[in-house]
Amino acid sequence: MSAALLLLAALPCALGLARLDGVGRLPALGWNSWNAYFCDVDEAKLLDAANLIISLGLKDAGYEYVNIDDCWSIKDGRDATTQQIVPDPNKFPNGIIGVASEIHNLGLKTGIYSSAGTETCAGYPASIGYESIDAATFAGWGIDYLKYDNCYVPGNWSDASPSGADYDYSTSNTANRYMIMRDALLAQNRTILYSLCEWGQANVWTWGNETGNSWRTTGDITPDWNSVISILNQQSSISQYTDFTGHNDPDMLEVGNGNLTLPETRSHFALWALMKAPLIIGTDLSKLSPENLEILLNKYLLAFNQDPVYGVPAEPYKWGVNADQTNDRTNPAEFWSGGSSNGTMVAMLNTQDTTRMMRADFSEIPGLDAGTQYKIVDAWTGKSAGCIIGGLDAQVEGHDTAVYLVQSVSEC
Ligand SMILES: *[C@@H]1O[C@H](CO)[C@@H](O)[C@H](O)[C@H]1NC(C)=O
Ligand SMILES: *[C@@H]1O[C@H](CO)[C@@H](O)[C@H](O)[C@H]1NC(C)=O
Ligand SMILES: *[C@@H]1O[C@H](CO)[C@@H](O)[C@H](O)[C@H]1NC(C)=O
Ligand SMILES: *[C@@H]1O[C@H](CO)[C@@H](O)[C@H](O)[C@H]1NC(C)=O
Ligand SMILES: *[C@@H]1O[C@H](CO)[C@@H](O)[C@H](O)[C@H]1NC(C)=O
Repeated sequence: MSAALLLLAALPCALGLARLDGVGRLPALGWNSWNAYFCDVDEAKLLDAANLIISLGLKDAGYEYVNIDDCWSIKDGRDATTQQIVPDPNKFPNGIIGVASEIHNLGLKTGIYSSAGTETCAGYPASIGYESIDAATFAGWGIDYLKYDNCYVPGNWSDASPSGADYDYSTSNTANRYMIMRDALLAQNRTILYSLCEWGQANVWTWGNETGNSWRTTGDITPDWNSVISILNQQSSISQYTDFTGHNDPDMLEVGNGNLTLPETRSHFALWALMKAPLIIGTDLSKLSPENLEILLNKYLLAFNQDPVYGVPAEPYKWGVNADQTNDRTNPAEFWSGGSSNGTMVAMLNTQDTTRMMRADFSEIPGLDAGTQYKIVDAWTGKSAGCIIGGLDAQVEGHDTAVYLVQSVSEC
């Protein structure tokens, strides 16, 4: 084969999991059962969530996936004849096919969960060695999204100790476990968005784009501030791996859960949206406060996350409390910006406990310059903050994030 032909043959894989129908090009928006109910999942909870996604206006805002996490099947093994995983008849009396069909009837999509191991994290049958059967089963049930976890990996699939900084993890056993399921999903006559949940091991961001539509980059999130900012700290140096069709996934949203305060919840949602992370809600929607609903519906942040023209996420342009590039779990990068169809989004996160004045100096922000007059819109209120030259000062509460859309205009 000539060099040109070789290059052509190699391209489709290296370029990522682009689907003809455009699914997965933008970060997924939806809801998942885990952070709300953990193992205690059933048809009623799924359908309640689906109905609330509609009645609360979340569907109109773009949230479309209703995803079942772990614990949906019977625990003690596969069907002896078909080798399929069997839905728990007590939790899902109409099968997964039944609940998926109800969810589709509401104009939404359905996701399911398995693991690239012998058991799911909660000890239910999982997919290693059964990838083709499971992918075909999921497609047959009408599944639109697979979250694929990393529990109970057999010993012979562990990675050889990589030698040298240039070790190519895309050839590791870990990458291979995830690529086998990718190929099984691509062999189905149904688009199933592929969400890798591999906890950031084996430098997944370097081979995630050729494998799935999103890839978890860290361990599990918990609904508290320390978890949110420590995950954020880990994202500061890997933003270059997110673009159309492939997204770093800093884990699902904890909006509405645990002891996150309102400012902390704003920061969590704003930064996840700006990083173009999948935005997967994980709370009991019947208990969602109006303030938290408003955060989830923020049209400026959702528009940035779902921008059809700009695939590159926001990234830190300055750390703030720390010197640039500092790795600090409690004081991650504070000053973020990113380009969008409507201007530059600028976010200032106050990692300190008390209110302080923060300044977005336009000369420091990529794409902006010190001598131009910009129109400023506060993304939390939608209100104009006037026209400004040079920079923008904001009083930011402890753990809160100020977010502004900075627009070039011919006149103010
Ligand atoms: C991932 O692949 C898609 C589709 O080919 C491409 O558009 C995108 O730029 C790639 N992402 C990165 C970070 O290279
Ligand atoms: C591990 O063992 C299983 C069962 O024998 C086999 O199918 C699989 O290919 C092995 N994995 C590796 C990475 O060798
Ligand atoms: C694939 O699915 C489409 C849409 O459901 C259907 O029209 C088509 O016949 C299917 N193709 C095959 C080969 O099964
Ligand atoms: C919030 O929850 C975390 C984790 O459970 C805990 O460590 C922390 O002390 C809690 N903070 C408050 C203010 O309750
Ligand atoms: C840009 O503004 C238009 C009109 O308000 C809106 O429909 C669109 O979602 C916005 N896009 C972005 C990326 O902000």
